[in-house]
Amino acid sequence: MTNLYLKLVIIILPLIIIGCNNKKVETMIEKSLYGKLPDGREVYQFTLKNNSGMKVNIINYGAIVTSIIVPDKNGKLEDVTLGYDSLSGYINDNSYQGAIVGRYGNRIGKGKFKLDDKEYQLTINDGENHLHGGKFGFNKVLWNAEIVSGLSEPAIKLTYISPDGEEGYPGNVIISVTYTLTNKNELRIDYKGTTDKPTILNPTHHSYFNLSGNPLNTILDHQLTIEADTFTPVDKGLITTGEIKSVDKTPMDFRTPFAIGARINDNFEQLTFGKGYDHNWVLRNYNGQLRKAVELYEPVSGRLMTVFTDQPGMQFYSGNFLDGSIKGKNGINYQYRTGLCLEAQCFPDSPNKPEFPSVTLRPGQEYKQTTIYQFSTR
Ligand code: GLA
Repeated sequence: MTNLYLKLVIIILPLIIIGCNNKKVETMIEKSLYGKLPDGREVYQFTLKNNSGMKVNIINYGAIVTSIIVPDKNGKLEDVTLGYDSLSGYINDNSYQGAIVGRYGNRIGKGKFKLDDKEYQLTINDGENHLHGGKFGFNKVLWNAEIVSGLSEPAIKLTYISPDGEEGYPGNVIISVTYTLTNKNELRIDYKGTTDKPTILNPTHHSYFNLSGNPLNTILDHQLTIEADTFTPVDKGLITTGEIKSVDKTPMDFRTPFAIGARINDNFEQLTFGKGYDHNWVLRNYNGQLRKAVELYEPVSGRLMTVFTDQPGMQFYSGNFLDGSIKGKNGINYQYRTGLCLEAQCFPDSPNKPEFPSVTLRPGQEYKQTTIYQFSTR
């Protein structure tokens, strides 16, 4: 009898636990109306909460992460991203705050590329070049949103169908981005994409981080480590030259932790071109698997962000185009270098650099990317 009772407990208890967990997931996501687009379509905000006190807000316009709220070393919760207080800020934004950018993250020289002997002309929106998917890229469209059920952690899946010819790109592309907030304080981003014609696809994520939790501070005291021995130099227009250069004995060397501000104003041509750091690092051990790529540490708050990705490159942009003209959250004007981006992707201008990893996507193939921003303290 006791034996039977015990067996029943062993079978039933895990089912009850799984049931409770699933039920909890639904309550870990809140959906609310965020605003309306000029054409009347509604934009929703999803608030994802985990068991460890972390909270992430995401809207389905631009697949934008509007805030990431994480504890500092004393448990104080603060938002570690820049952004806006309302939808109009994101509609008028031209700095790609918090968004998924694409179809192609970063620049394509003169907006031209050749695929299967056919030349394509993309929208020019950055000097004479194409940047971050063009004028109305993934950051300026409304995505379809669904709460992912059946998981033990809160997740939302955003999907967008980019029509053939959009911003000059060939093929109807279906892209999905799933944001998961794990109980290990990670914001995990899983991308998937398909096409019906040969095309190129290289999306990335463009949150501006300031781990101090106070955007009045610059990011110059943040300590950065990048798992890379080389980087891809650029020309004056920030187009990669095709070279891959060693970081050794240069201010680009983040193989060991360095304060971002320590060498940013050095007389080094690449830093002059970028007005600071705005370069792609060639991450070590690229084999399509997730591996640690970056560590970013802010000593006063003790916040540490570790980035994992399966991508070959990491664009580190030190917020050099922030000039105080943007009025962000809480009415704060974002000054020079008060936020930084860490954009996992393939190397900039790769469609014109056959020696770089390919971004070509063909019918029948599936584009996949996973990048994780993990938060802890030390
Ligand atoms: C990327 C680019 C920068 C800049 C920002 C957006 O990080 O590399 O040059 O265009 O996006 O302002």
